[in-house]
Amino acid sequence: MKLDVVFTPAGIPATEVQGRTVFVIDILRATTAMCASLTHGAKALIPVASTEEALRLAQTIGSADVLLAGEQNCVRIPGFHLGNSPLEMGEAAVRGKTLIVTTTNGTKALLACQGAAAVYPACAANLTLAGERAREVLERDRGLLIVCAGRDGAFALDDAYCAGRLILEAFGGRRRRRGLNDAALASLDLVRRYGTDWERPLTYSRAGRELIRLGFRDDVVDAARQDGYPVLPFFHDRRVMLAPVPV
Ligand code: MLT
Repeated sequence: MKLDVVFTPAGIPATEVQGRTVFVIDILRATTAMCASLTHGAKALIPVASTEEALRLAQTIGSADVLLAGEQNCVRIPGFHLGNSPLEMGEAAVRGKTLIVTTTNGTKALLACQGAAAVYPACAANLTLAGERAREVLERDRGLLIVCAGRDGAFALDDAYCAGRLILEAFGGRRRRRGLNDAALASLDLVRRYGTDWERPLTYSRAGRELIRLGFRDDVVDAARQDGYPVLPFFHDRRVMLAPVPV
């Protein structure tokens, strides 16, 4: 059994992604916002690397059902329809729409995982479903990779704590150590430190403090709601959609 965590996408050796199942975490806020929008009926999300690419793609598709979403420095990009807040992704805004999304770290982490056998965005909001899928994958493949989006190329407490919670779910609550890399072990130690209270590690993290400073405290509280958006997104062929049920 081989379960690896990387704390930033820069830590992913290309050979480690090819053919593997990957869970990508950007709990504050990209993967949480993705779960919120799919819960509320968005058709698909297309993660892209930059504002320019988002604008180009929207023009190419040229449909009224396409919305631009995302952030720069945590705030909505001028001219975009939506920011990166899960609370903006209500039914009235997103049902039936395709969202072209670009964010500082989250979308880049997803794009770094192209070539994987399967890529699942994960967070507190879909912990139970992501954990169930991780457990199935471990039983089948004897291995998986968890990629934390991190923050500006560095370790992020919020994502690492979430990685620890996902590992515990995958192990059915048992604390196993065999087959885990050091980052996975450290993620589990964060769960030992903070327990099951999501809000503490989220509000202590730099991302959480920055969001609160900018007036997004409700987003941090929303991102801390375990199973608040119970869907399993799947990133495949450049799109994030609801995951197919395994056969
Ligand atoms: C990111 O991609 O860096 C985050 O999702 C930023 C944010 O909270 O908007």
